[in-house]
Amino acid sequence: MAIDLSINKVGLQHNIQKAKENNIIIPTIAQMQNPDLIPEKIKAKLANVGLWEVNPLNLFRISWHNEAKESGGLFQHTPNYVEIPSKLSGVPCRIVAMSGKWFPTGCHKVGASFGCLAPRLVTGQFDATYHHAVWPSTGNYCRGGAFNSKLLACESVAILPQDMSKERFDWLKSIAGQIIATPGCESNVKEIFDKTWELKQDPTMMIFNQFAEMGNPLWHYNVTGYALSDLFESIKKPGQRFAGACFTSGSAGTMSAGDLLKERYPGLKLAVGEALQCPTILDNGFGGHRIEGIGDKHIPWIHNVKNTDMAIAIDDEDSQRLLRLFNTEDGKKYMMEECGMSAEEVEKMSWLGISGIANVLCCIKMAKYYELTENDVVGTVLTDSAVMYGSRIQELNDAHGPYSYVEAAKDHALHMLGLKTDNMLELTYADRKRIHNLKYYTWVEQQGMCVEDLNAQWYDTANTWDAVHAQAKDLDALIDAFNDEVGILKTL
Ligand SMILES: Cc1ncc(COP(=O)(O)O)c(C=O)c1O
Repeated sequence: MAIDLSINKVGLQHNIQKAKENNIIIPTIAQMQNPDLIPEKIKAKLANVGLWEVNPLNLFRISWHNEAKESGGLFQHTPNYVEIPSKLSGVPCRIVAMSGKWFPTGCHKVGASFGCLAPRLVTGQFDATYHHAVWPSTGNYCRGGAFNSKLLACESVAILPQDMSKERFDWLKSIAGQIIATPGCESNVKEIFDKTWELKQDPTMMIFNQFAEMGNPLWHYNVTGYALSDLFESIKKPGQRFAGACFTSGSAGTMSAGDLLKERYPGLKLAVGEALQCPTILDNGFGGHRIEGIGDKHIPWIHNVKNTDMAIAIDDEDSQRLLRLFNTEDGKKYMMEECGMSAEEVEKMSWLGISGIANVLCCIKMAKYYELTENDVVGTVLTDSAVMYGSRIQELNDAHGPYSYVEAAKDHALHMLGLKTDNMLELTYADRKRIHNLKYYTWVEQQGMCVEDLNAQWYDTANTWDAVHAQAKDLDALIDAFNDEVGILKTL
């Protein structure tokens, strides 16, 4: 189950040559964890590069430690985050959410795609002069994949459902080599998988399936997990403990950050979130929903279910309504006047995309369930920001009429303060096993995985999850060797 890091000499030579021609230096996982390790020469050059610019140096900005700047930003020790004040959340514990807005592409999924591509690029298994990198996704992962492909001078194919937001498609048109829109919405991942089987018939198409590629959890465990730990260590007050972490699951890559946190903070509870309208984890359920990026009617191969303590379903109406509260003038006025939030705090609420709002709602439900106090901190991430959903806010205005102070008060009371401990489950051993077993139908029956590997995920964590997490060092050694061969760093 560990990532295959065997070398294909021909492909590797082609990639080295391509990297020379395109001035490419590949960052290590260690540099993504700790930007102090990034050479000064690179930092000096980044001072003139925009965050979303198609410049290979932006590979170094695949990091939670970026400064919150559109251009020229360097790095900071404490990741960018939003703290949800108790007057807004309605619970006494601290809720901190690390922001994905300050990654290139405005979303941390660019990291997951790096985690999937880098091992095959630096081993030569993916040959940049022959293969197309195919990025099946509900949106942000293929945006990240197409962006990384462009930085690394590789051809890319983005696959995403046709109902995803206009912003996603508009931007992709300028970056991806080819875009394929599959039928349906957020939860129609089976249709995406079907398309990848079709494409696989062509040997030049190499599929990077985020739901199954171990590079995705490798990246999140080693980068997102470390960053959340850095965040907690820099904001904690005396006597406070890291009590919980909640992540809604799309590919479940982000969930691996929880694996690291549970090792560092024994006692921390790890929850997975999904949409109530598609409760696959809670109820083996299915359905369409509007929390873009999550909830795809299957259990991802890379979800370490045995290590997941709780499942929480969020009503997609709650996250939609709060998107308007956080991003309209009346909503902002309400938060300042009624919740005592500063102008800066209110502005930062636009750092929450729809799934980020759902993540925060999971934290609130967890806090209510465990009766967390002022001494507890619950952490999460904001995968993308409201920038991705301007058209959705407009659609809500069209459907419900213009926003107002009264609407803001209703939304806050009904969709945030009013959250209950319904539609959630503290997972027993048997519950976890039931959820894990669901993988069989997608992955063994449909997608060609073998049952021995499925069982190993459950019975042999040392040689599966732990082994993958530990491969960051091997990957870094290969990246260093690749960069040495390319030799760009010396001449920079
Ligand atoms: C907006 C958004 N939120 C949440 C997720 C889920 O993250 P993960 O795939 O790591 O589970 C995604 C995944 O693409 C996403 O795009």
